[in-house]
Amino acid sequence: MSRVLLFTGKGGVGKTTLAAATAASLAAHGRKALVVSTDPAHSLGDALDVRLGASPSEVDTPGTAVGGLFACQIDPRGLVDEAWGELRGHLRTVLAGAGVDELDAEELTVLPGVEELLALAEVRRLAVSGPWEAVVVDCGPTAETLRFLSLPEAFAGYLERLFPTHRRVVRGLLAGVAGTGTVERWDATADALSRLAERLDALRTMLADPSGCSVRLVLTPERVVAAETRRTLTALALQGIRVDSVIANRLVPSPGSARGAAATWLRTRRREQDAVLAELTGIGEVRTVDHRASEPVGVPALLEVAAQLYGDDDPLPGAAPAGSLLEVSGNGRGLDARYSLRIALPLADDAEPDLARVGDDLALTVDGRRRLVALPSLLRRCVVTGAEMDSGGVTVGFRPDPSLWR
Ligand SMILES: Nc1ncnc2c1ncn2[C@@H]1O[C@H](COP(=O)(O)OP(=O)(O)O)[C@@H](O)[C@H]1O
Ligand SMILES: [Mg+2]
Repeated sequence: MSRVLLFTGKGGVGKTTLAAATAASLAAHGRKALVVSTDPAHSLGDALDVRLGASPSEVDTPGTAVGGLFACQIDPRGLVDEAWGELRGHLRTVLAGAGVDELDAEELTVLPGVEELLALAEVRRLAVSGPWEAVVVDCGPTAETLRFLSLPEAFAGYLERLFPTHRRVVRGLLAGVAGTGTVERWDATADALSRLAERLDALRTMLADPSGCSVRLVLTPERVVAAETRRTLTALALQGIRVDSVIANRLVPSPGSARGAAATWLRTRRREQDAVLAELTGIGEVRTVDHRASEPVGVPALLEVAAQLYGDDDPLPGAAPAGSLLEVSGNGRGLDARYSLRIALPLADDAEPDLARVGDDLALTVDGRRRLVALPSLLRRCVVTGAEMDSGGVTVGFRPDPSLWR
């Protein structure tokens, strides 16, 4: 399976440019790479200066050493029409046959975020079946991408609620009110839905595998971004998704000792940008790319951007850093034992994490995003004694409670 690199960030910060530059740079070093856009605002073709289709084709790069660079832009609408349209039709007929009226059936079958999910499932399919060492993904803007990254989970939950519990019920119901043809159609629909659930499960596994998939967060150094970047990092960490680096794009050149109005403008701008970069320290690796005089369009210009972005480093991320999201430590014995669970999360200063025990899980909510942390068996027999937070995460205290030892 290819390594998967997801580029995300706000609109216009340079996601498409940097994703294309990364893939071009890999290909220039003889490493087959595919760059694929899932952003409905397609501009990957513009950055590469070629026309792109929905399936991967090799980018023609005369006059450069680049070979093995492939690109495509996924057409989410087309995928929906192809895969989902038919399924939805089936489901509607079946439900109508079972006496569910048109309106309800329509509500039931309009599932949230189907387009984005199918686009990402298509990325996974390409990564699994293709010959590329890396699949570089030009994703949509942050908010949307975050929503779409958490979708497999939400969507799988939705399907689980509907199936297979209801499968038997509906089947029985159908057998009573409709002919066998409808029952068979129902079986076909239910099978198609469980295949979809399997694909989503595979997608979730891919996204949460730090050695196979990681995110690069692109931003421009402006005042508002530092806090927002931390929030995005928290949200991704909550979903167990690895962010391997943050890229600050469009850093204006320093004017050195030049004088005059233009130099003063540049100096002021650069000072502000440096201040923002200083605020970003402590969140991990931050790489920078200069604001270039002309837009980096076409493979040669993209290679120049990549040279600045990666220098002599490998554009693909190294092994996932050691240290998992969860760590348990403790001391003492029996009822006197005290344990602590460390949940590593980059947190903004004003973040207000909320913790709640939900059965064998701990529900951690930050900025409206929730994650269920399955407690290790040792801690399931304990009660929470308190929690402390710092910029690197949350530490939860536990003590054994015999009333839970059933
Ligand atoms: N470092 C840079 N220097 C100059 N222009 C840039 C740079 N990075 C991106 N651009 C230009 O800025 C515009 C937006 O970049 P793009 O990569 O399309 O952003 P996004 O995909 O995040 O919306 C494009 O016209 C692109 O050519
Ligand atoms: Mg773009």
